[in-house]
Amino acid sequence: MFNNIYKNKRVFLTGHTGFKGSWLSLWLTKLGAKVCGYSLEPNTNPSMFTELNIKDKIEQSVIGNILDTEKLEKTINEFEPEIVFHLAAQPLVRLSYYEPVLTYQTNVIGTLNVLEAARKTPSVKAFVNITTDKCYENKEINYGYKEDDPMGGYDMYSSSKGCVEIMSSSYRRSFLNNQTSYSLATARAGNVIGGGDWALDRLIPDCIRGINNGADIEIRNPIAVRPWQHVLEPLSGYLLLGENLLDNGNNFTEGYNFGPNEDSVLTVADVAKRVTEVYGKGNVVVGEKSPLHEAGLLMLNIEKAKKVLNWTPTYNADTAIKKTVEWYKHFYNKDVNMYEYTLNQINEYEGNIVWNKNYAIK
Ligand SMILES: NC(=O)c1ccc[n+]([C@@H]2O[C@H](COP(=O)([O-])OP(=O)(O)OC[C@H]3O[C@@H](n4cnc5c(N)ncnc54)[C@H](O)[C@@H]3O)[C@@H](O)[C@H]2O)c1
Repeated sequence: MFNNIYKNKRVFLTGHTGFKGSWLSLWLTKLGAKVCGYSLEPNTNPSMFTELNIKDKIEQSVIGNILDTEKLEKTINEFEPEIVFHLAAQPLVRLSYYEPVLTYQTNVIGTLNVLEAARKTPSVKAFVNITTDKCYENKEINYGYKEDDPMGGYDMYSSSKGCVEIMSSSYRRSFLNNQTSYSLATARAGNVIGGGDWALDRLIPDCIRGINNGADIEIRNPIAVRPWQHVLEPLSGYLLLGENLLDNGNNFTEGYNFGPNEDSVLTVADVAKRVTEVYGKGNVVVGEKSPLHEAGLLMLNIEKAKKVLNWTPTYNADTAIKKTVEWYKHFYNKDVNMYEYTLNQINEYEGNIVWNKNYAIK
């Protein structure tokens, strides 16, 4: 996988205590990387980070704030990574309506702090900055956003990530244009699902909570359309992008969309219903529409990742939902070792990757 580039590679990963960061920690260690994670304490209970004891699976786990520049710089400097994956963020649209300052501080200033800390660390060669599909100015039209479409965002989360995109481009031109600087790319992924997410106000965790509490699953926005994908999809894109940056950075320092094929662009109601079918229980009801604006239609164009990186989606939405539900079922049934099970899901995913075979020939 990834031309073995992560074997013994020193990787600095922010957001390792979160949903995607926990999966990425496991995948990187499986690939032989030495990972230093830097994040706040897990923000949900349960959390994948705690349940799978990820702290003990990686080289170093530091609980720290990306707004604490002194600690951040000291940690990254001492660890001397070659590559940074920056995932730490306030990632929730609805919370951004209640916590706009925290959202901007974490997402914009926090990201700038990580970019700066990396610039002060000579060992860093590559930086993958994780934003979102919501960074685009959403025109609510039947159209998949392309990488050079305008940035924007109705709510504070989306616009903070749009800002991060603009800031990354400016940062690159201002500071990363010499031989000794690192290569910086941004990655914009769609709605991610997978086992181990217990965040508030996200569809799959809401479904799982409803099913396990014997309560109705109330959905707010049944006809909202999103590009659904299994968590391993964008992570495979980030890892592939990281490989290319490490290999030949100058050719890849841009933004990339990682989303599903068109057949996996589904409504919220479709996904919730499918979750209950696969789980074998659960009742979906349409709740009162939230007064907080959330995008109705969001799609991504993934042609660039296909052409430039040779990346393609591996699972369709149906497989992604099945893998996700199976994970939670085992978790609540307590019938398998979840660490082994999660590694097996990664193994299985690796075995199904089509582009890996093309890539190996390249
Ligand atoms: N989950 C999705 O559907 C999705 C979709 C697109 C993009 N993303 C992006 O992917 C990244 C990871 O998202 P996630 O779903 O794993 O979120 P998450 O909430 O599960 O994890 C967020 C992580 O960021 C850390 N963090 C937050 N504030 C911090 C701070 N001030 N200092 C240090 N660490 C801090 C948390 O401790 C946690 O480890 C985010 O950048 C998010 O915007 C997520």
